[in-house]
Amino acid sequence: MQNKLNKIAKDTNFFLKNFINKQKKSDLIIPMNYGLFSGGKKIRSKILIDVGSIFNINYKSLIIIGAAVECIHAYSLIHDDLPCMDNDKLRRGKPSTHIKFGESTAVLAGNSLLTMAFEILSYKNLNLNEKVKNSLINQISQCSGHLGIAGGQFLDLDYEHKKISKKKIIEMEIKKTGKLFSFCCIAPLIIKKKNKREIKKFEDLGADIGLLFQVADDLIDHRSSSLVAGKKTGKDKKKGKATLISLLGYKNTIKYAQNLILKINIKTKKYGLKSKDLLETLNYILNRNK
Ligand code: IPE
Ligand code: IPE
Ligand code: MG
Ligand code: MG
Ligand code: MG
Repeated sequence: MQNKLNKIAKDTNFFLKNFINKQKKSDLIIPMNYGLFSGGKKIRSKILIDVGSIFNINYKSLIIIGAAVECIHAYSLIHDDLPCMDNDKLRRGKPSTHIKFGESTAVLAGNSLLTMAFEILSYKNLNLNEKVKNSLINQISQCSGHLGIAGGQFLDLDYEHKKISKKKIIEMEIKKTGKLFSFCCIAPLIIKKKNKREIKKFEDLGADIGLLFQVADDLIDHRSSSLVAGKKTGKDKKKGKATLISLLGYKNTIKYAQNLILKINIKTKKYGLKSKDLLETLNYILNRNK
């Protein structure tokens, strides 16, 4: 699994470096690169490739679409660490972008990474027809805005130090993290021009996978050390974050995550051997230490 992730990271970074190098230089490039190339598991790209391989999508196109997703993810982390949000000084084992470059630069580098995702999806070397590209941009925008990452991040902060129901916690985690995974799961179906009903199934599958990913991140915060995780741990409790752990306890949250995997397994059963890689990724997501 780690070998597969390393290869995806290598191919994604190669694409992104070339893409950025072809552009004119600016003062924001260094902080953007810092947020983009500071490590990172590339798990969203892996999901995109796992689902893409079920539908026989060309690897190169998946890497380019994944690169756009990773830009949005990197932006979301830069902003997530800002003092006005989670106020975290450590990210991927290094000082957070705003610690290194200052807050205003971090905000602007984040904005520029967000918009770079749209540049990538409309890029001429992405060999897909214009209608498909348009649909991908439309979907990734929805997953990033007030109904996706930004909306979920709002709720995450709004729920601090409040008693929040399980339903609302799940809804918040699906928005802030799940929606981008939904995009990764539907992009291959958009390319294959599948019908709305099938796309909706994969959107829901992505939400489950993203929820699993966020629950696992919450478990890491609870049990892991900063040294291993590469970011401060034990912080959710201190900040009064509304998580399933704060509501149900650690053990019940693990059970919840295991059930989620079972639920996803049932949904992907019909793809048989073709979904093997995806199932391997799910187990990695739950059992990882960082
Ligand atoms: C961390 O995401 C933020 C969450 C959405 C939980 P990742 O754990 O994917 O971060 P990197 O890219 O691997 O550092
Ligand atoms: C972040 O969730 C979700 C994003 C969309 C960025 P967290 O705040 O739990 O992520 P970490 O733990 O700081 O990586
Ligand atoms: Mg946060
Ligand atoms: Mg955070
Ligand atoms: Mg976390």
